Amino acid sequence: MKKIAIAGTGYVGLVTGVCLAEIGHDVICVDRDPQKINTLLKGEATFYEPGLEELMKNNLEAGRLIFTTSPTIGYQDADIIMITVGTPNDPNGSLDLQYIEQISKEIGRTITRNNILIVTKSTVPLGTNEKIKEWIQSELRSPLYFHLAANPEFLRQGAAVYDTFHGDRIIIGSDSKEALHTLEELYKPLHIPIIKTDTKSAELIKIASNSFLALKISYVNALSSICEQIGGNIEEVTLGMGMDARIGTSFLNAGVGFGGSCLPKDTKEVTHLANEVGEPIRLLDEVLEINKRQELRLIDKALARFKSLKGKKAALLGLSFKPNTDDVRESVSIKMAKRLVMEGAIVTAYDPVAIRNAKRELGEIISYSDTLEQALMNADLAFIGTEWEEIKNIPITMFSEWMTEPVIFDGRNCFQLDAMKGFPIEYHSIGRPCVIGKENIIKTFGLGLG
Ligand code: UGA
Repeated sequence: MKKIAIAGTGYVGLVTGVCLAEIGHDVICVDRDPQKINTLLKGEATFYEPGLEELMKNNLEAGRLIFTTSPTIGYQDADIIMITVGTPNDPNGSLDLQYIEQISKEIGRTITRNNILIVTKSTVPLGTNEKIKEWIQSELRSPLYFHLAANPEFLRQGAAVYDTFHGDRIIIGSDSKEALHTLEELYKPLHIPIIKTDTKSAELIKIASNSFLALKISYVNALSSICEQIGGNIEEVTLGMGMDARIGTSFLNAGVGFGGSCLPKDTKEVTHLANEVGEPIRLLDEVLEINKRQELRLIDKALARFKSLKGKKAALLGLSFKPNTDDVRESVSIKMAKRLVMEGAIVTAYDPVAIRNAKRELGEIISYSDTLEQALMNADLAFIGTEWEEIKNIPITMFSEWMTEPVIFDGRNCFQLDAMKGFPIEYHSIGRPCVIGKENIIKTFGLGLG
């Protein structure tokens, strides 16, 4: 079993550390934020991720997992150090490496043994591992030999623990045979296919995968707008397309667009890289542009329907960028909330776990409710931004019982059109015909009702 240090206890770091402890390794997670470390030492996760807290508690109790603010305690005995700090976009769209640089230099100042393996799990621009090597070397107190590897992660927020144990592939990129071998042995117990590459290819695989997923979503969203114009149904279209095994059905859900800390950021990074090397991919500019249009599509539909939203009571259901997470970074729901307020609507939002984070972004410009019922009570309109199970399972009668004027704008196509037909409600969704009242389905043309 290996001694592993995790540098940075954000989302990737904490999930990776806990899961590696679970398969028997001694893991020490280092973070310079004492408040975070104190919370983690109490066995409390610092963000919501299904299954994580339970595993964390078990491994803390078993003594396989330690948290510390001290880089010296963290790195001095480690066989492997994994860099898992954040790489936000800088104003030019490229990834900001300041945290990676700080951590690399800290590692350089702290390590005292030869042959330590330093692994980059953070999403980084191409060539970053070379810079990491230089940053570490610049701070070494005496000449030491260390190995470097790129090992990007493909965890989905909300399913990260599951993905760690059941991922589709593990990518290890290194120019050191020893590093490739060590990581292969480390991950063997997970029984997930391992692909070994050179360092730069591994770095590219990560951002290329996320930008391809973004491309799939934007393509479907663009098709959904065509469906609205011609009176088609995007779900039938994607079902028909997805049955072709070469296309596949996943990530073909039309909606109000992709958010989160990864897809938008990595798409911008590939665009940036492509321009930098003189091989521009204008396709990805369009992917981002389509997403921007899509984000406010529901509000445009509501405006086309009502002319003005001034004074309308609007329930906003879901605030996180996707279900099963409390992360609101680049969340479309947050953008919708801001635009609704700009249009003069009085907004009450509900989310099972993301209200605390949403408040940091939105403050008191909207109200928040603890229950779906409270959010929907006496509302004129309901906007669905996140497809939480709880939202998908609202009995349809509740919309007509609780709302004054039950007009629903569903940005995640949570309900079957047929199921909506029997109720006195007006239901608008993405790329599908609008349903109005009992047994009355009409075609939408453009954003209006035709
Ligand atoms: C994404 C990738 O899916 C992970 O493989 C990767 O490891 C991760 O980024 C990362 O780089 O760390 P994540 O950002 O957690 O994961 O979320 P996704 O499940 O990819 O969803 C991203 C956004 O796309 C969400 O807003 C979601 O609502 C939207 N989406 C997804 C759609 O609009 N339609 C779809 O069909 C699928």
